[in-house]
Amino acid sequence: MDDELKVLVVGCGAMSNKWLGVAEKELRIVGLVDIQRENAERRAKEYGIRNERVFEDLDAALKSTRPDMVFDCTVPEAHYEVTMKALSAGCHVLSEKPLADSMEHAKEMVDKARRTGKLYAVMQNRRYLATAPATTEFINSGVIGDITTINVDFYMGAHFKGFRTEMKHPLLLDMAIHTFDQARQLTAADPLEVYCKAFNPKNSWYAGNASAMCVFQMTNDIVFNYRGSWCSEGYITPWAGSWRIIGTRGTVLWAEGTPRAEVVDYEEDGLRCRMKERKPDKPPLKVTGHEACIKEFIECVGRGGRPQTVGEDNIKSLAMVFGAIESAEAGHPVSIV
Ligand SMILES: NC(=O)c1ccc[n+]([C@@H]2O[C@H](COP(=O)([O-])OP(=O)(O)OC[C@H]3O[C@@H](n4cnc5c(N)ncnc54)[C@H](O)[C@@H]3O)[C@@H](O)[C@H]2O)c1
Repeated sequence: MDDELKVLVVGCGAMSNKWLGVAEKELRIVGLVDIQRENAERRAKEYGIRNERVFEDLDAALKSTRPDMVFDCTVPEAHYEVTMKALSAGCHVLSEKPLADSMEHAKEMVDKARRTGKLYAVMQNRRYLATAPATTEFINSGVIGDITTINVDFYMGAHFKGFRTEMKHPLLLDMAIHTFDQARQLTAADPLEVYCKAFNPKNSWYAGNASAMCVFQMTNDIVFNYRGSWCSEGYITPWAGSWRIIGTRGTVLWAEGTPRAEVVDYEEDGLRCRMKERKPDKPPLKVTGHEACIKEFIECVGRGGRPQTVGEDNIKSLAMVFGAIESAEAGHPVSIV
């Protein structure tokens, strides 16, 4: 009996290479879909997939290949249509971030997954950075006491071509979702309110706002402060950003590598203190990024369970993005429900 799970990959642009590399090891790739046929044909050639398995039309591909799951690697504006069609066809869906291009679409997609009983999750590969789980556990061990404040800087001079250059809020919609989701991973706190100033610096090569500063009020009395830019030249930060997490007894610094904490150690009279350095015990992940997220999803499809980036939870990270955009456009703080 053939018990290999079948996957249809939709969207064969830049990111699809990462997905196909994992898919060819773990699943049977039954088809490739792209509205620009030449993109799908190029990937088909690279991955030894026969030409009759290449489609321009998703409906035809779903009908012909009957996959167990769909990997959606299309641009953000297409995620709604692809996911809704795939769920309707009885497929599980793992989609590239961001979940959707609007909260209305996102709610419909999450609701559709609930009604069809299919698994629907989103690629948030930063959760699977080698030291992200160790950093989360380190913070949750209470090493710095209760978290009060998180500051993250993300500064890149990214000279992209393609869909980002035309988006109204390329930083917030396409990139900040990673950092917002990671803040939720690290703290287990959820957003309540945001004030955002989004702007486009005069040297920017983007049509929309390439820079933003956001202050979120999170649950558990945490204030999360995000500063970022896609068009900042010089002294760039790591892709995952540069993090300062402040607690009642100390501070954790993290920037993709091993996090470190400086923790206050009070003397008995409570007046003098000295600082001690601490590092986490948990080892880094061996399988990371896209591969780890895709494998977790496949495991949950096969054996049951909920991946950590399941749509009904990930929609809270997306709400941070749309809350920030709404606040930037309104010019005042907005609540996030
Ligand atoms: N997780 C990450 O680290 C990461 C990094 C970069 C991009 N992304 C995300 O990956 C997604 C794709 O980005 P990319 O850089 O590969 O973009 P891309 O433009 O290189 O590729 C997108 C492909 O989707 C195709 N497409 C568009 N609409 C379609 C539709 N309705 N049906 C079928 N195909 C369609 C396009 O023709 C194109 O080939 C985006 O959502 C982006 O935000 C994620």
